[in-house]
Amino acid sequence: MTELQLPTYDIIIFGASGFTGKYVVREALKFLNSPNSPLKTLALAGRNSNKLTESLKWASGSKTHPTIPLIIADTSDPSSLRRMASQTKLVLNCVGPYRKYGDPVVNACVEVGCDYLDICGEPEFMERMEAVYFEKAVEKGSLVVSACGFDSVPAEFGLMFNSRQWVEPAVPNRVEAYLNLESDKRIVGNFGTFESAVLGVANVHKLAELRRSRPKRSRPNIPGPGPVKGSTIEHQEELGLWAMKLPSADAIVVRRTFSTLTENPRGLQGVNEDPKQAEKRAAFWSTIKPAHFGVKIATKSLLSVFGFIAIGLSIGLLGSFAFGRWLLLKFPSIFTFGGFRKKGPTEEEVASATFKMWFVGYGFSDAKLASQEGAKPDTEIITRVMGPEIGYLTTPIILIQCALIVLKQRQDLPKGGVLTPGIVFGPFDLQDRLQENGISFDLISEK
Ligand SMILES: NC(=O)c1ccc[n+]([C@@H]2O[C@H](COP(=O)([O-])OP(=O)(O)OC[C@H]3O[C@@H](n4cnc5c(N)ncnc54)[C@H](OP(=O)(O)O)[C@@H]3O)[C@@H](O)[C@H]2O)c1
Repeated sequence: MTELQLPTYDIIIFGASGFTGKYVVREALKFLNSPNSPLKTLALAGRNSNKLTESLKWASGSKTHPTIPLIIADTSDPSSLRRMASQTKLVLNCVGPYRKYGDPVVNACVEVGCDYLDICGEPEFMERMEAVYFEKAVEKGSLVVSACGFDSVPAEFGLMFNSRQWVEPAVPNRVEAYLNLESDKRIVGNFGTFESAVLGVANVHKLAELRRSRPKRSRPNIPGPGPVKGSTIEHQEELGLWAMKLPSADAIVVRRTFSTLTENPRGLQGVNEDPKQAEKRAAFWSTIKPAHFGVKIATKSLLSVFGFIAIGLSIGLLGSFAFGRWLLLKFPSIFTFGGFRKKGPTEEEVASATFKMWFVGYGFSDAKLASQEGAKPDTEIITRVMGPEIGYLTTPIILIQCALIVLKQRQDLPKGGVLTPGIVFGPFDLQDRLQENGISFDLISEK
């Protein structure tokens, strides 16, 4: 912190009244003052105290909820954000779409020098924050990490888990992830995620412009052939799944992690880490071998793939002009065939959903084979990450576990900067923590 007074709260959850925010509050309460938890003090922030109180009641599951301070802050009032940021070590920002509301929150945290995590899945926002705030965040000692939710921790940590199964002299060349969502009931997303996706389509050119305006990042040297451009619809026989490309933030976030790793092969130095921790960090990163990476949405029935294509076309076509966006945002359920709802999923729908994310890695039994003319991978390793519903159960679990690492091991984390979850939390026990909280990582097969 740059200001002399000490922060009052370990964590402030901003946007605690939102659909996802209330699930994040529920997850945080599990760790508030529990044995060995570094979370001792918590406050909720938002623009409406009645809504925050409702959210707290829901999250604590009873009328007698714990006394948790409420802080009023609005993204249109920078002084309220600064006041909020100066009262805490760490802001968990659940106010989205981030393209609309995120910048002033990051700005306030960086100015004050507190840490910031969010659950954003919007690549343009993440890269813009990096472009605008990276240096200032380092200078002020503010750690800004987006995508600490289902976007993009299962992808980043699932890929690293697969990568660690390749033992020298074996090396991976590419890893394809297949995301399969299951439920006895309907699988539904809330409006906030839908609006973020629609605005992402509308502004896709801005990401290209931003990248053109910035120096090119380093790319890792991946042994073997370049990335494979497959067919639009794929039948993955071993998994028994039909799949198509998922335009999520995952592969983009992973690429940023690999760029930072290429520039810092031993990872990022902790602000006050001891030599033992530095060694541990370097040892961890020496086990991670970069690979080409892509994510597909996958399902058992071919018909469902056509359903995904129809939703993609609807958002892609209508999202590209103003009246189309108005229609999409006015009638989300109609244009996504029930996939997104203004009121979000019911508690039963959330409770019954699960995900499986398969990582099919292709590579070489010996790195030397990769450099031969026309080399083709001769080894396949399949791993899997599996857990509860993605948006409102898995995302809060991930966000809170990342937050607990920040609270517990701040001295071992980089001083500051705008960074990805993979590069920041990779060498820590995030995977173990996720496993303890119902998100499993398994080795499935090796051949
Ligand atoms: N990474 C993932 O996998 C994942 C999963 C779930 C959600 N998300 C993202 O999380 C974000 C939120 O989604 P959601 O479904 O929870 O949305 P939501 O229900 O609409 O919640 C939005 C929250 O933002 C608050 N807010 C809006 N404008 C504000 C302002 N000007 N100042 C302060 N607070 C403001 C709202 O406060 P009020 O209550 O006062 O309106 C509410 O608390 C979206 O960007 C979504 O994509 C990501």
